[in-house]
Amino acid sequence: MTVQLDYSNVLDSAIGTRHGLSVDTLKQQADEARPLFTRLQEQRQSETLGFFTLPYNEKLATEVRNYVASIRERFDAYVHIGIGGSALGPIALHTSLNSSGYNLNQQPKMFFPDNVDPDWLAEILPHINVKKTLFHVVSKSGGTAETAATLLYFMTFLKKELGDNFYRNLLFTTDPHQGLLNRIANENPIKCFRIPPNVGGRFSVFTALGLIPAALSGIDIDALLAGARQMDTLTSRDNLFENPAFMYALIHTEMMKRGKNISVMMPYSNKLRDIADWYRQLWAESLGKRVDRAGNVVHTGQTPVKALGATDQHSQVQLYVEGPNDKIITVLEVNRFKENQPLKNPFPYIEEFNYLEGHTLGHLLNTEKAATALALRNNQRPNLTIKLDKVDAEHVGAVLFLLETATAFAGELLNINAFDQPGVEEGKIATYALMGRKGYEKKKTAIEQMLNEQKTYIIK
Ligand code: PA5
Repeated sequence: MTVQLDYSNVLDSAIGTRHGLSVDTLKQQADEARPLFTRLQEQRQSETLGFFTLPYNEKLATEVRNYVASIRERFDAYVHIGIGGSALGPIALHTSLNSSGYNLNQQPKMFFPDNVDPDWLAEILPHINVKKTLFHVVSKSGGTAETAATLLYFMTFLKKELGDNFYRNLLFTTDPHQGLLNRIANENPIKCFRIPPNVGGRFSVFTALGLIPAALSGIDIDALLAGARQMDTLTSRDNLFENPAFMYALIHTEMMKRGKNISVMMPYSNKLRDIADWYRQLWAESLGKRVDRAGNVVHTGQTPVKALGATDQHSQVQLYVEGPNDKIITVLEVNRFKENQPLKNPFPYIEEFNYLEGHTLGHLLNTEKAATALALRNNQRPNLTIKLDKVDAEHVGAVLFLLETATAFAGELLNINAFDQPGVEEGKIATYALMGRKGYEKKKTAIEQMLNEQKTYIIK
């Protein structure tokens, strides 16, 4: 497994002293941050932060493999019902490690409806035989409105097709004890996997919620976990200058001090596109906080933006190169592509195509990446490259674990709790209240009163 972090283009030697970081500053900051690193290491060793332990959970991997083997013949479709941290990791694994045409010729067909758009959900139905579909309902809290509603939506069809045996096509992954899914499972013999209480949704890709759809669709979960373990070793390095997660976090937090309040993640790989989507949640929910650990109001965070190379060179890069210098851009680069035939020019009379002859598409894509990095650098725009040798389960596992660990480090450097999400909870509670959930009556009245008092300005 080879994953490299190239941070040359954030240094003052590359992009000047106004926007760039000096090696001395980074060294000094790294020295000052050592107690934070030590504290995180202690949490790693004491297993307080559960996500650090997941790549080592052989027992879970075995359980997942056995479960998947036991149901594989029964189902030709899989519907993953979850949202946010309960969906984005599995989606990233599926799109990065399975073919984009997977559902056309492989089984079980995989569906990840992580929204309650009724038209979108209805579009799944003609593609599945409900009797032969496994519905995996994932909710750590067990009560998220969108997940509950999607379960209820599909339950109509399950009950119609299977009657009281509907439970045979359900699988739950949830908290070990709490929540509504547990109550349903207590009444019905539904198979349940658990999300450890000390693992937050956005750090849960290596729990059963990510491993089950991965294993079911043929992804090598052992390689995935092995990649994460190798990255755990690299990101435990005591020499912080050689520690890719620490350096990623330090560079980002230092850049925030220089007004770079946007973190762009730009894979030069369609396969890795949804890793940028997963990262968007990880970075936003973990670091976007109102108060620091001492309770001071800080309103900190860095807005993550996803982009795709080379496609967005023709959409976003003009802004990145010449617009406000308020971003730090991380490019994901792939060293070796699976399919990489040299191009031929079938139009010899078009001499202008000759420069492409003999080169592979992968070479072109990576040359475009280099050209973008150069343009950014020449315009004093900080940019980093995370280079994977190839896109396989081991490398994807490593990159996901790198970014999770970097997020934990960034939380330490910003002195905030990277593992809660009070802002998300606030929205969830308002939804429950407005939808009339029992126990939220007072909140509903307060919101309605506020809405009644509020003037509206609508242009028709
Ligand atoms: O990362 C998080 O904690 C959130 O994005 C949750 O995953 C999301 O809100 C869904 O919550 P739950 O898994 O409890 O349904």
